[in-house]
Amino acid sequence: MKRTILCVLASAGLLWCADPEASHLPAGKAKDVVVTVCTECHGVANIRRQRLSREEWTSEVSDMVDNGAKANDDQIALILDYLVANFGPDSKLRVNTAPMVEFKAVLSLTAAEAGAIVDYRTAHGDFHDLAALLSVPGVPAAKIEAKKEVLEF
Ligand code: HEC
Repeated sequence: MKRTILCVLASAGLLWCADPEASHLPAGKAKDVVVTVCTECHGVANIRRQRLSREEWTSEVSDMVDNGAKANDDQIALILDYLVANFGPDSKLRVNTAPMVEFKAVLSLTAAEAGAIVDYRTAHGDFHDLAALLSVPGVPAAKIEAKKEVLEF
């Protein structure tokens, strides 16, 4: 309810309406800049599901500037460092904050499998280790074990 009111004000241009998922982005020098610049048009899930190289992020961010993202050169440099550090080719999957689409993309899960993890986490709280994640009903152990080195609890 509160969010609905805030978002109505936001669409009237009176207030900025952030994606509530934005607070779960990994900490970092540029987190606030990313939230301000990159959640104006879409949520952070668009970003979190990616694992891109610096070159690929550079091209993605330049597409976003073409789309209308407003950032100066200093902000773009900060954003790129943040994206490469946290959503680069070898970046971790932060199990306790990742949105559904990040599980799906990074672990090659189906939407139903990824959804089962996120629903379970919402109902029961954080996962403390791999065993807890594997105990979620509907989760494919083999797919998760194959990528266990990218998981961060
Ligand atoms: C002015 C609106 C706007 C802003 C601000 C914006 N984006 Fe986007 N973004 C879009 C649109 C529209 C799409 C979907 C179409 C596309 O891919 O261009 C998109 C899609 C994406 C995708 C998904 C692309 C894919 O292949 O699935 C990523 C990643 C992304 N944005 C990252 C960012 C980042 C990082 C920032 C901040 C630097 C940002 N966006 C800021 C409009 C925006």
